[in-house]
Amino acid sequence: MRLKLIVSFLLLILSSHLKSQVVYKNKSASTDARVKDLVKRMTLEEKVLQLNQYIAGLNNNVNNIGESIKEIPAGIGSLILFSPDPEFRNQIQKKAIEESRLGIPILFGFDVIHGFRTIYPIPLAQASSWNPELIQSAAAIAAKEAKLSGTDWTFSPMIDVAYDARWGRVAEGYGEDPYTNAIFGVATIKGYQGNKLSDPFSIAACLKHFVGYSRSEGGRDYRYSDVSPQSLWETYLPPYEAGVKAGAATLMSGFNDISGIPATANHYLLSEVLKEKWGHKGFVVSDWEAVKQLINQGVAKDEKEAALKAFNAGLEMDMKDDVYRKYLPELISEKKIDINKINDAVSRVLKVKFDLGLFDEPYVKIINPSDRYLQPNSLAIAEKAAAESMVLLKNNNSILPLQNQYKKIAIIGPIAKDSLNILGSWTAHGKVTDSQSFYTAISSEFKGIATVTYAKGSGFEGTNKEGFKEAINKAQEADVILLCLGEMKAWSGENATRSTIALPLIQEELMKELKELGKPIVLILSNGRPLELMRIEPMADAILEAWQPGTSGAKALAQILSGKVNPSGKLPITFPLTTGQIPIYYNMRQSARPMDKMGDYQDISTQPLYSFGFGLSYSKFEYNDIKISSKSITNRDKIIAEVSVKNTGVMDGMETVHWFISDPVATISRPLKELKFFEKKLIRAGETVTYKFEIDPEKDLSYRNSEGNIILEEGDFYLIVNKQKIRFEVVR
Ligand code: GLC
Repeated sequence: MRLKLIVSFLLLILSSHLKSQVVYKNKSASTDARVKDLVKRMTLEEKVLQLNQYIAGLNNNVNNIGESIKEIPAGIGSLILFSPDPEFRNQIQKKAIEESRLGIPILFGFDVIHGFRTIYPIPLAQASSWNPELIQSAAAIAAKEAKLSGTDWTFSPMIDVAYDARWGRVAEGYGEDPYTNAIFGVATIKGYQGNKLSDPFSIAACLKHFVGYSRSEGGRDYRYSDVSPQSLWETYLPPYEAGVKAGAATLMSGFNDISGIPATANHYLLSEVLKEKWGHKGFVVSDWEAVKQLINQGVAKDEKEAALKAFNAGLEMDMKDDVYRKYLPELISEKKIDINKINDAVSRVLKVKFDLGLFDEPYVKIINPSDRYLQPNSLAIAEKAAAESMVLLKNNNSILPLQNQYKKIAIIGPIAKDSLNILGSWTAHGKVTDSQSFYTAISSEFKGIATVTYAKGSGFEGTNKEGFKEAINKAQEADVILLCLGEMKAWSGENATRSTIALPLIQEELMKELKELGKPIVLILSNGRPLELMRIEPMADAILEAWQPGTSGAKALAQILSGKVNPSGKLPITFPLTTGQIPIYYNMRQSARPMDKMGDYQDISTQPLYSFGFGLSYSKFEYNDIKISSKSITNRDKIIAEVSVKNTGVMDGMETVHWFISDPVATISRPLKELKFFEKKLIRAGETVTYKFEIDPEKDLSYRNSEGNIILEEGDFYLIVNKQKIRFEVVR
């Protein structure tokens, strides 16, 4: 009897314990079980709120913090958090956990594009490093600084393949090649998301802008982008497919109208490709008010129809414009939206929140800003990323590095003493006070070696030449001129379209007047896009593309100039001779009449100024003959290709070998050549290093047709490395 009493008492405790342990609150339950349990418990209004993202913290001065928090509904799905204060974020989260019925945590997002407070080089520069491992480390640090500041989710990486440099957002991606965007996109995802999303310093990645946004007509932002199904599958989708396979938690739809169906309401891409074909389990957020913009794009008569089209296409979350909250309930009651689709969308959002651990650890541990940001290791990686991203484009008579032959250095130009614009666009919480100017860094690098003088010379633009005289005087007294020209940070990034990629005339005129002095000119560029250098290039003895190198960029630049660092960057995007050559990119198709320059421009060369993959070093690298393990394979075999490279220079240097494949005859015409693999290695002075590429026909010799099917055909192929081209064949 006694035993029976004890057993029934224990059973009572257990069942009450289990009841109190509702599954979605039970840490040991699977994410799937927790999501299912929670969705079952939610009302329609609670579900719809999870599919909305508002903003918080824009105006976070102390006397109205309470106000902004009050405006935020406790059940909101996500917020764009503009404040870096983790306590502000925790206050809002506390409201969600304690005041909403089910205590669902908010997902805080923010644009951590190339750093949070420690700012790394712009992504286009990062790709110039050809060092994905380094970029992954930079992304991991950006994630840590972001997480410690209250951000769980970044709207990055941007992997829009782009070659039209009039479009300001070329700065935010990894250049003109699909493979390059895929490799650096995946490296960045891994940096952000770590081994698993619930790790203490992991944040969710967001592939953007899905898809084809970079084809915005004329480089003008937010425009129609005519993307053929063939281009979609062979150029624009591959980086996204790689990113989804790498486990990117979310995507963001682009602003662009893709050949008549805007990305934000494109069922083929958002559902058939992303969910059905690729099996993506996360969710898609719209770009800023992009749902409402479907009205401007002519596919929705009003906000309600915009909500209907976007949601039924497969867009789960509505950024900022509140259209989903306003109209989804009505559309469900009118049976235009299926509640099961709502449940699926909510489940996707909740899955990301569970995966991030937000239900179990909704609050951020507060540590001092001095321990949160700009740590020595973060700055060291920022400096290394900047150093490896800079591209030496010209170096006549090896004028660089500046050895002892120059005792008087004049640093001139609008960028010389600038420490803001060299951070680039999308600088999150980066501060101008954290970064040195090129002038400051060069002055300290050459202290005791040369005297360094300065003159601004001109502004970035305009017609004011008052500064020319002082610049000419300073240059007159010097042995060498370091001319620092370039762009303002606002000239690239979003809504930063330029009709020409030439620098403003005033900068060219400044250079022309300095050139008259007959002194050597080292041109240092800080810009967010390829530039038109046709008139500038002949006036420079050396050209160093510094891009917008971020918080520690100036020191990296100074060490390249002094020779402490050997430049190793190579271009991930073509530099046209002039804007008129656009579109021009390395992986174009062959002309129908390639001979005798048929069809070329009559007035200028049809060749770009600098090609994809171009970059000089202080070392000289000699490529020996490519060796391949076989010249004839079936599509089930592999080929091992090798090339050994000797550093015949006097400095140790890093060399990136780019391996291209050319497929001259195929059912669907192929580009002249396509990058399939690259590797960067250190080669000590006088030494030889071997680079290897295993050619896997399925991966490296196939292509996608307009339905996205992988096509692998027999026939001749060429392996292209440096200036060598070697034929091999695939036989049945
Ligand atoms: C912007 C950008 C997008 C960014 C988002 C949130 O309009 O297009 O790249 O992530 O809005 O700021």
